Amino acid sequence: MSALSTWTKSELEALQAQLTKELGLQKGNRLALDLTRGKPAADQLDLSAGLDDAIAGDYFAADGTDARNYGTLAGLPEARALGAELMDVSADDVICWGNSSLTLMHTSVDLALHGGLWEDGRRWSRAHPPKMLTPVPGYDRHFTICEAADIEMVNVAMTEHGPDMQQATRLAAEDPDIKGIWCVPKFSNPTGCIYSPECVALMADLPNKAAADDFVVMWDNAYAVHDFQFPKTPLSPILSAAREAGTENHVILFASTSKITYASGGLGFLASGANVVARVTRRLGQLSIGPDKVNQLRHARFLSGRLEEHMAAHAELIKPKFQAVEETLASQLGELDIASWSTPKGGYFVSLDIRPGLASRVGELAASAGLNITRPGATFPYGNDPEDRNLRIAPTFAALSDVKAAMQLLTLCVKLATVEQQLGGQA
Ligand SMILES: Cc1ncc(COP(=O)(O)O)c(C=O)c1O
Repeated sequence: MSALSTWTKSELEALQAQLTKELGLQKGNRLALDLTRGKPAADQLDLSAGLDDAIAGDYFAADGTDARNYGTLAGLPEARALGAELMDVSADDVICWGNSSLTLMHTSVDLALHGGLWEDGRRWSRAHPPKMLTPVPGYDRHFTICEAADIEMVNVAMTEHGPDMQQATRLAAEDPDIKGIWCVPKFSNPTGCIYSPECVALMADLPNKAAADDFVVMWDNAYAVHDFQFPKTPLSPILSAAREAGTENHVILFASTSKITYASGGLGFLASGANVVARVTRRLGQLSIGPDKVNQLRHARFLSGRLEEHMAAHAELIKPKFQAVEETLASQLGELDIASWSTPKGGYFVSLDIRPGLASRVGELAASAGLNITRPGATFPYGNDPEDRNLRIAPTFAALSDVKAAMQLLTLCVKLATVEQQLGGQA
């Protein structure tokens, strides 16, 4: 098969007829396939059944704290140590809170806006409006936090080594209303890239280059240990680079066990310089008299000394699904030269770029045949992919046989939409 751009009109029409027929057959199968959900599948959740036994009537932490009671706002020492292992920082830098790192991100943004992260009068709400840099394609829930807080988003291009740091630095240096940047530094959502050491060093120094004196790097390391192969690929430690650059109170790291143990019953972590850790801890103390330390204790016991082994077991379950995605994309779209996609070495997503103007059409075609894909546009702020070309594939939750069927159907839709567009252009 040759590149689709070289096909004649009659060849394209024959292919369109064949693809339309295939899609009609698929519709008849009344499928209910779903590639939208970046969730662990049930067999992954089963890997953490041992959490149930980790307490076994012993509620006392290593330092003697009774985990059942109020207090210990920054978290139990052994849970902070687990966060330190995930984020490559020291336990003193860490707050371990309840389920969901997103809550901690929201709290941090809210503090930066209103109370001030440094308690010295600086607060983002003084900007009109405050803005954040959003590397794209990116994670829709970061965009939601900004939208909910009336923070304007300014797109920065992603490269395979992280955000385009020349662009990010220029934008931040020019506009004092730009107050921060969102980052998913390892197995980025959705492109799967790992930020290079150069990118991490530049990011740690970005608060020094920014025109705003209250610029913050939001470092959401949600996939810190979610490699497919071990020993894991390292990520340069940003907090130590930030300490060298004097920016440690302008870099906030996040992680969680949502995709290590239970997505609904895990631990969220935050790390930063001492001032920000103290400030956020005080704010959390206004929200609650203390986190769920029983959950912290059972997580620390369950994962202590065996995090890598546990993540390797996850990898064995999800690797075949990512392989199925890669194989179908390569076999169905490769030679036609109508798409490019990421081949991540970990994380939860594959990013698929098709020809401009086609993502929404593919979404429609797929839905018509019973396949749900992440809403086209969702990987961009305001749901607006300016080129309407990026699709996010999330293969972990579906059964392997469903992933295979879904990818056949998705690639069929991509081919059909592309042929339609090419024929339209030739008319
Ligand atoms: C980049 C990123 N950050 C955060 C989250 C959610 O984290 P949590 O469950 O800790 O709130 C996700 C979930 O998909 C994610 O992809």
